Amino acid sequence: MAANSSLRSSSAVSLVLILSTILSSGSSTRTITNYAFSIKEATIKDIKLAFERNQLSSRQLVEFYMEEISRLNELLKGIIEVNPDALLQADAADKERKYKEPCSLPDLHGIPILLKDNIGTKDKLNTTAGSFALLGSVVPRDAGVVAKLRKAGAIILGKASLSEWANFRSLNAPAGFSPRGGQGKNPYVLSATPCGSSSGSAISVAANLVTVSLGTETDGSLLCPASFNSVVGLKPTVGITSRAGVIPVTPRQDTIGPICRTVSDAVYVLDAIAGFDSNDEATRYASYYIPHGGYKQFLNSYGLKGKRLGIVRNPFFQIAEGLGLGQTFENHLQTLRREGAIVVDNLQIANIDVILNFTASGEAVATLAEFKLSLNAYLEELVASPVRSLADIIAFNLKFPDLELIDKIGQEIFLAAQATNGIGANESAALLNLENLAKNGFEKLMKDYKLDALVTPRSDVSPVYAIGGFPAIIVPAGFDSQGVPIGISFGGLKGSEPKLIEIAYGFEQATKIRKPPSFNP
Ligand SMILES: *[C@@H]1O[C@H](CO)[C@@H](O)[C@H](O)[C@H]1NC(C)=O
Ligand SMILES: *[C@@H]1O[C@H](CO)[C@@H](O)[C@H](O)[C@H]1NC(C)=O
Ligand SMILES: *[C@@H]1O[C@H](CO)[C@@H](O)[C@H](O)[C@H]1NC(C)=O
Repeated sequence: MAANSSLRSSSAVSLVLILSTILSSGSSTRTITNYAFSIKEATIKDIKLAFERNQLSSRQLVEFYMEEISRLNELLKGIIEVNPDALLQADAADKERKYKEPCSLPDLHGIPILLKDNIGTKDKLNTTAGSFALLGSVVPRDAGVVAKLRKAGAIILGKASLSEWANFRSLNAPAGFSPRGGQGKNPYVLSATPCGSSSGSAISVAANLVTVSLGTETDGSLLCPASFNSVVGLKPTVGITSRAGVIPVTPRQDTIGPICRTVSDAVYVLDAIAGFDSNDEATRYASYYIPHGGYKQFLNSYGLKGKRLGIVRNPFFQIAEGLGLGQTFENHLQTLRREGAIVVDNLQIANIDVILNFTASGEAVATLAEFKLSLNAYLEELVASPVRSLADIIAFNLKFPDLELIDKIGQEIFLAAQATNGIGANESAALLNLENLAKNGFEKLMKDYKLDALVTPRSDVSPVYAIGGFPAIIVPAGFDSQGVPIGISFGGLKGSEPKLIEIAYGFEQATKIRKPPSFNP
């Protein structure tokens, strides 16, 4: 109740800075132009412009977000830790901006960003995947993506909450819950799921607690919360962004990507974090996909023109129909056609039932073994840590049942992973099966019909992209009858980010469906 009444006053807090510029035309006529700028819903481009016009400083930006966090985070639980050095970083950015040409500064210069709590930072922030087991652990260095963000001048505002261990502890774990972060809430409908595991990243950008954020995806962890929180999630081709220094699930599928309010913000962030990192071998090969001049050039309002978009109705459109959103998505297909896309309807992905079944596809068998290997390798590399292996974490959970809610949540995924013993015959068979499912399913469909992207409601399609390391982007597409947001996703073959960005931006500019949350019960 108390939380609700404090929310009502929220609209008053929007910081509006108004600059009245008096333009003298040389004659006696004087024109007064008011540039109104609001931090709420501001894009990176808006903020850069406000910096250039001296309407805004990074310090004001960080102070605004800190105030909003102290007002709203108790309810939303989108953030685990705020960086004690964020204001220092803001002051440094403001100082640097004073003596450098605006065009010489990177796009993320002075922009606050929130990182999912599985992304390592070598600073005062902890990196814990939401678990008390890793509290006090010391990472050897910044994660590869964090090093790139710092180089781009971004301000690390803090760590976002998540489904503990990126949702790889137990099937009974509530989406968006971690012992350290508590239960993250969907800011549109508080009783609805925020989805996970990058829940806090999506909640926080949706509720304007930060400008932009990073999430991670193994299978749906970035796309699903973006869908449920009316924000844009961009899941890059595996290897385009470094996974070094990020608490892993499986290097075969893990990828780091932006969660932002707009496609253009997501693209600015991708430009900053994409590229080679000597600590992640996969970036060596995948950086071949990164276009000269970066991704910004594909923010093209006519990006849908001539694009071939595939529709697989079974089961994806049926899921939307079940939510009462069948007509919404039919209208979206009309919009895509109107904007010049060629919609290729009624397609099928071979073995789709198997691909969407974690057990049947082999994804479970392969991932359990890979998780144990890669998590143990991560823990061994830490400079200091209360736990050094998956076995230690399992023991920690049993020793501190109050903290870790062992009775309610359990840890059966951990136990199943602990029982694996490297990549044996079963795992090899599972890996081969996944490769064939991807090749004969999505990849074949895309090539047979010369498609640029597959279009689906929500993120239920995520295993299709996960098992092949394929990229996808999700954009706000509507709200159900309760007001819970839903996204539309566009997925493509490896390295197809330029096309996906054109398509997503074209759709977003033609529809502009996102609106800020109203915290309904
Ligand atoms: C990190 O965790 C330690 C406890 O180990 C705590 O004292 C510290 O405040 C945490 N850092 C931040 C930025 O919250
Ligand atoms: C998934 O596949 C397993 C067999 O591997 C089967 O037992 C289970 O019923 C399937 N689940 C669904 C939802 O079809
Ligand atoms: C491999 O899979 C088979 C069939 O599911 C199972 O009976 C066997 O125990 C597995 N082998 C190992 C080493 O896990």
